Amino acid sequence: MNQLKRFSTRAVHAGLDCLPEGATTPPLFQTSAFAFPSAQEGVRRFQQEEGYVYSRYGNPTVHAAEQRLASLEGSEDALLCSSGMFAITCSLLSLLQVGDHLISEESVYGGTYSLFNQLFPRWGIEVTWVDTLDADAIRKALRASTRVLYLETPANPLLKVLPLAELAEFAQQNNLISVVDSTFGTPYHQTPLALGCDLVIHSATKFLGGHGDLTAGVVAGNHAQIERVRKQYHRLMGGMLSPFEAFLLARGLQTLPLRMERISATALTLAHFLQKEPAVFCVHYPGLESHPQHEIACRQMQNGFGGVLAFEMKEGFAAAVRFLDSLQLILRAASLGDVNTLIMHPASSSHRALSLEERRVLGIGAGLLRLSVGLEDPIDLQEDLKQAFSCIAK
Ligand SMILES: Cc1ncc(COP(=O)(O)O)c(C=O)c1O
Repeated sequence: MNQLKRFSTRAVHAGLDCLPEGATTPPLFQTSAFAFPSAQEGVRRFQQEEGYVYSRYGNPTVHAAEQRLASLEGSEDALLCSSGMFAITCSLLSLLQVGDHLISEESVYGGTYSLFNQLFPRWGIEVTWVDTLDADAIRKALRASTRVLYLETPANPLLKVLPLAELAEFAQQNNLISVVDSTFGTPYHQTPLALGCDLVIHSATKFLGGHGDLTAGVVAGNHAQIERVRKQYHRLMGGMLSPFEAFLLARGLQTLPLRMERISATALTLAHFLQKEPAVFCVHYPGLESHPQHEIACRQMQNGFGGVLAFEMKEGFAAAVRFLDSLQLILRAASLGDVNTLIMHPASSSHRALSLEERRVLGIGAGLLRLSVGLEDPIDLQEDLKQAFSCIAK
């Protein structure tokens, strides 16, 4: 798809040109294998890696969704995976080996934190956690064996925003590959590759799929890098996306700009509302002027600031629990980026594997709640929050 076309056009057209018979939407190729018209053709497809042979190697529905994602990220290529966690794992394994060192931003999704802390050391990969807003701290963490700078922005769950252009430049100067988890940003709001980063990763389970009905991950970057992940790790470790989930994802992507426009506008309204609520101690949302990296967010995000916000209850855990139980419309659920507005308590869910001290350092308090805004009427959402606050005030 022509990159000169605008985002909404690419969201519906990209990926169609690789489909047979002029299909106007990616058809579902729900098949494990592809028969060869002749033995010779089978030999050719295996030797030249052209055409489809087996869905773990490639599938037209998955390929169409990958091309659509690549177009939206402005990348040469993209690779779909069975989950966001697998996209992170296989991308990093393609860049790191025994004895290598990774510098990671300290504010990352809890699953990523556990992967780096629990599994990477077993595979001989060392990790240093750094506040990547502190340039001196990154410089001090550098070693001769450092290969990757791992970032997540806006970060889960406190919405910390990182200056991607500066960090990508630092990575380039020091021969590091910069990898960014852009799940909260979505390509509608930010495109890290355009800012100089090397690889961008998403949990496509979230806003990209957008309907809470699939689990998927994606990594996007230049063709050589994606081929390396695909051939050396993804294929052999078997973490491909199923055709049906790719079909749902390609369908969900068509409305990404419409959904994000509405969702980010509602999120900003709710963030302002929560700021005025006496039971709330602090609201974290990059669109608020009070957000510590608001200026960076304004510089590197477009069309709004995404659909996730977090807020801290003054009265801590007990108030958070009573508040959650008082909600009538907003769903208590662990994911985000759904059509439904979802709320969860990070300290007891996504970040439960962290020690109390680790959570304290990261600022994940017992009274923190994370809200993922959906497509309901903003007035209904505000009314639900209001009635829940009045319940806990009694
Ligand atoms: C920022 C971020 N990255 C990665 C993941 C992992 O994605 P998945 O659940 O699709 O494996 C999550 C999951 O919540 C996330 O929030």
